[in-house]
Amino acid sequence: MIAPSILSADFARLADEISAVNGEPGKRADWLHVDVMDAHFVPNLTLGLPVVESILKVTDIPIDCHLMIEDPDRWAVGYAEAGSHNVTVHVEAAKDPIAIAKDLRAAGAKAGLSIKPGTPLEPYLDVLKHYDTLLVMSVEPGFGGQKFMADVLDKARKARELVDTGHLKLLVEIDGGINADTIEQAAEAGVDCFVAGSAVYNADDPAQAIEALRAKAAP
Ligand code: DX5
Ligand code: ZN
Repeated sequence: MIAPSILSADFARLADEISAVNGEPGKRADWLHVDVMDAHFVPNLTLGLPVVESILKVTDIPIDCHLMIEDPDRWAVGYAEAGSHNVTVHVEAAKDPIAIAKDLRAAGAKAGLSIKPGTPLEPYLDVLKHYDTLLVMSVEPGFGGQKFMADVLDKARKARELVDTGHLKLLVEIDGGINADTIEQAAEAGVDCFVAGSAVYNADDPAQAIEALRAKAAP
């Protein structure tokens, strides 16, 4: 699955930018990744629930909200209630990640848990039993266009193994620095869903970029 991140889109033309990745099947986004940043959990500030609500009105692509915010225990469920397909919170910010997962699912969304590059996987294996998605960050969260950190692939590999052996039941998603040069290594590590911001939206033809990424991920 390919999930273009609108972080690298032109926010003044958001509906058009979303249409650009909603074309014919092979060139279509599977999810649309929406990066919510609060200038506290990460140094950058992007958008919040009102913008997500507007996005939900203009597209039928499933919305994948990535909340890089403090106090997701309070705010995450609103993104689920609005109609997002998947809502991901950061384990580093969550006070009670199991309660968050239950709230998200009760509101009709899939629950995602994200880990920063320096955060290990092992302490959270029990917590992950309550989640539908694990988002492995392959850059420090906060900005698009950063360099892919291949070290995190060990965590993706470990998660894949736990899924394949039946210990966990979730999608493995990766976010940060995914492009035509890096996506193959992530695919080999067993990633199911690839977020790509600059590689899609800085391309002349975003739909073509999706097709090219998909071809490299699943040749
Ligand atoms: C970074 C965001 C990413 C970002 C990825 O904190 O979570 O989703 O948009 O951008 P690229 O693909 O350019 O690294
Ligand atoms: Zn993201």
